[in-house]
Amino acid sequence: MFQQPSDAPSAGSSDGRLRLETQRLVLREWTASDIPDLVEGLNDLGVAQWLALVPHPYTVEAAEQWLAYCARLAEAGPERTGYELAIELRSERKAIGGVSLTRISRLHGTAGGGIWLNAHYQGHGYGLEAFGEKIRFAFEDLGLRKLENGYFPGNTASQAMQEKLGYRPEGLRRQAYRCLADGLIKDECLTGLLIQEWQRPPRR
Ligand SMILES: CC(C)(COP(=O)(O)OP(=O)(O)OC[C@H]1O[C@@H](n2cnc3c(N)ncnc32)[C@H](O)[C@@H]1OP(=O)(O)O)[C@@H](O)C(=O)NCCC(=O)NCCS
Repeated sequence: MFQQPSDAPSAGSSDGRLRLETQRLVLREWTASDIPDLVEGLNDLGVAQWLALVPHPYTVEAAEQWLAYCARLAEAGPERTGYELAIELRSERKAIGGVSLTRISRLHGTAGGGIWLNAHYQGHGYGLEAFGEKIRFAFEDLGLRKLENGYFPGNTASQAMQEKLGYRPEGLRRQAYRCLADGLIKDECLTGLLIQEWQRPPRR
């Protein structure tokens, strides 16, 4: 069962799989029925070029491997070191992207993470809504104190979204990745958000 501090708002579900809700979105574990949406969203170089580990073309087989990885993560229970969640648009019951909390260190109180949205659903505030809820979950429900992130230079959408949520620049990791989608070596602009810098959203 997913454990939370006793005064935390409700998160998770009776089967222990995480489920978070926002006004327009549900953040939940991936399931096999999401495979067509995963392939639709990620088989797009315009999206994958900004992500380090998404191959191109993105096939059903790649999606199945991804689901197997996510299932292993969830099996670790309350001490799991990461969450990989589908972003479901309530009005369409469709997985329009993914958001993650990764490298969770309970010792240091830190975690990393990422996000992507199907190109057809970008620019409508869903990124802010999903990432904002991920931050709330990390700080309020898990009790972490710092979130670390990054983006490839030129990713103005991610930079703008992170700045809006309070992330601050923390340097440049030169030639940090070989992007799987296009094979190019890319720098990473590092960002971080401390809990004391976080603007807690008003309770719904
Ligand atoms: C990055 C991403 C998740 C942002 O999600 P989104 O839903 O498109 O962004 P939002 O609509 O929530 O916008 C967030 C803020 O960024 C701004 N923004 C969004 N796209 C922008 C762009 N291309 N250029 C400049 N600013 C942009 C918005 O104006 C908004 O600020 P505002 O509320 O002041 O207007 C999405 O664009 C995406 O999936 N991109 C491809 C994959 C990716 O880059 N993932 C992140 C890797 S680090």
